Amino acid sequence: VISGEKIGLRPRRNDDIPILIEELYNDVLTTSRADTRPWRPFAQDSRKAPYANEPPDNAACFCVVELASGELVGEAILWAIDTHNRSGRLGLSLRPAFRGRGYGVDSVRALCEYGFAVRGLQRLQLETLADNAAMIGAARRAGFTREGTLRRACWVYGEFLDEAVFGLLADEWQPGGQDH
Ligand SMILES: CC(C)(COP(=O)(O)OP(=O)(O)OC[C@H]1O[C@@H](n2cnc3c(N)ncnc32)[C@H](O)[C@@H]1OP(=O)(O)O)[C@@H](O)C(=O)NCCC(=O)NCCS
Repeated sequence: VISGEKIGLRPRRNDDIPILIEELYNDVLTTSRADTRPWRPFAQDSRKAPYANEPPDNAACFCVVELASGELVGEAILWAIDTHNRSGRLGLSLRPAFRGRGYGVDSVRALCEYGFAVRGLQRLQLETLADNAAMIGAARRAGFTREGTLRRACWVYGEFLDEAVFGLLADEWQPGGQDH
């Protein structure tokens, strides 16, 4: 629906859910690093199982797909959409086999297109662990500025880690996504 260079963002389908659970959610370390909530096991048919519910109205949940093949690449979300301050926050998680190929940058750019062009937001924010080189690289490439570090803000699998905060303003955003 929203096309980047090599990926597209489309709505989630039922047949995506088992793949997302198996390859993303059930990787306890990756989920612990990417989510502020603690990892918990869920039966696949549980109403509380990840990806099973309708997202809240202040979030837009997408699946990332490879444009060439249509294959599922991962999930991307614009959440905490705030229509008063006109801001929103980005989240992204790709299947292991699709990481490190530039799809992360492409997905961040496509989420920016949705947030700025479709939703009319003026500020997008993302947070990631300060040691997440891939997410930090993707954010910078898409034009985000590092705005600060929240020291020991995240409890991750037995230790407190620092979190980096990145922001991009609508008037800094370059559709098509120039490097910063
Ligand atoms: C984080 C994530 C979305 C990034 O997507 P990706 O497709 O792997 O990253 P890209 O290939 O687009 O690379 C983005 C930049 O980071 C760099 N990079 C990628 N993987 C890296 C790694 N493992 N170590 C260091 N740098 C890395 C790339 O070189 C690129 O920078 P460059 O353009 O300056 O060369 C993906 O790795 C992922 O889903 N990881 C697991 C879940 C996660 O951490 N989500 C984020 C939670 S906030």
